Amino acid sequence: MKLMVIGGGGREHAIIKKLKENPAITEVYALPGNGGIAADATCVDIGAKDIPAQVEFAKANGIDYAVVAPDDPLALGAVDALTEAGIPCFGPDAKAAIIESSKAFSKDLMKKYGIPTAAYETFTEKDAALAYLDTVSAPIVVKADGLALGKGVIIAETIEEAKEAVRSMMEDKVFGSSGDKIVIEEFLTGPEVSVLSFTDGKTVVPMVSSMDHKRAGDGDTGLNTGGMGTIAPNPYYTDAIAQECMETIFLPTIRAMEAEGRPFKGCLYFGLMLTPKGPKVIEYNCRFGDPETQVVLPLLESDLLTIMQATTNGCLAETEVKFSTGSACCVVMASAGYPTAYKKGFPITMTAETAKTTYVAGASLKDGQLLTNGGRVLGVTATAATLPEAIQAAYGLVEGVTFENAYYRRDIGQKALAAMEG
Ligand code: AMP
Ligand code: GLY
Repeated sequence: MKLMVIGGGGREHAIIKKLKENPAITEVYALPGNGGIAADATCVDIGAKDIPAQVEFAKANGIDYAVVAPDDPLALGAVDALTEAGIPCFGPDAKAAIIESSKAFSKDLMKKYGIPTAAYETFTEKDAALAYLDTVSAPIVVKADGLALGKGVIIAETIEEAKEAVRSMMEDKVFGSSGDKIVIEEFLTGPEVSVLSFTDGKTVVPMVSSMDHKRAGDGDTGLNTGGMGTIAPNPYYTDAIAQECMETIFLPTIRAMEAEGRPFKGCLYFGLMLTPKGPKVIEYNCRFGDPETQVVLPLLESDLLTIMQATTNGCLAETEVKFSTGSACCVVMASAGYPTAYKKGFPITMTAETAKTTYVAGASLKDGQLLTNGGRVLGVTATAATLPEAIQAAYGLVEGVTFENAYYRRDIGQKALAAMEG
């Protein structure tokens, strides 16, 4: 079988490595992939958003199945176009991908179907938003409606700060048209949990839970990043909470999307907060999380391609999805300075042992030498029977990677360990 995976980060590398455990797969193409992914797939210089070129490539090369991993091509209709061209693929169509690309859509969906989330109001007029802020108390959260590179969420400690956020989004347009509409919502507290799930539009099968570490510095300090490391499973997410989430969040969401004429197929990511009043949805993503995938898929024991095809064909209920009972830890190694300015082009060396479970995010290949080519360079994952062992093993593997200006957090998983002890 010939497969094509759209995207070019650590998440895509983890998906490709897992897919290749199936011996029926003879060829994997990555569009565009990256210098590290090139060790496991044939990289093709077609951008993740160039949908016409993707369709043409798939047809010309006899692709049997395609996986669309990033949010942009999903929102732009890559799955619609490939399906129309007769290429079966993994991922939601554009109609369903809106669950991530519009916060107003997802908030209204949750309100209409009684899915627990932070109380909120939506505004398209600045003055109405400012007047509303005089009726609520701080802290309060202000969100731009559209995609804003992960920066469109302001947690305001005072009402004045919230008003400033409203003015910057609606008057100064700091996020462009993404701020034409804004959501003002209640500030929630509690541990955050990421739950990725497989769904064929009717059945939903949650994967093992995980915890991201979004801030750049140890102890959750510094700027927000795309994610500096992950652990799975998340110790805050007990069996009782999992059951409650299935009943109050996962199934109601799948049914709501179906009722709206937007059945969701693919990976639906639930960003949850475990509040004193029960689990609530902070955000939905229409795709695998990055770097959550780098700890979740290594724990998957069933065949990934079979599961993906079942989401496409609507037979997920009859398909085995089994996870190991062990734990995983992924430590992201970045270029010093990330998420602001950093240098690139430094040679990367790693031992063969480390390379087996390393997922490359930002590297290029020049004359056979891997060079750093991004803020987040790679993620090193270890699995083990227990979380403390997985953390120790991941940091052990990190020792096997060297590049100039490498930076990584030293405390990935420590909060989870404290939760297990407390
Ligand atoms: P989002 O892009 O919606 O996932 O928000 C980014 C981050 O902001 C989340 O991971 C939370 O840590 C935080 N956040 C978002 N909404 C809320 C809220 N209503 N209350 C508290 N924190 C929030
Ligand atoms: N790790 C968060 C995300 O993929 O959006």
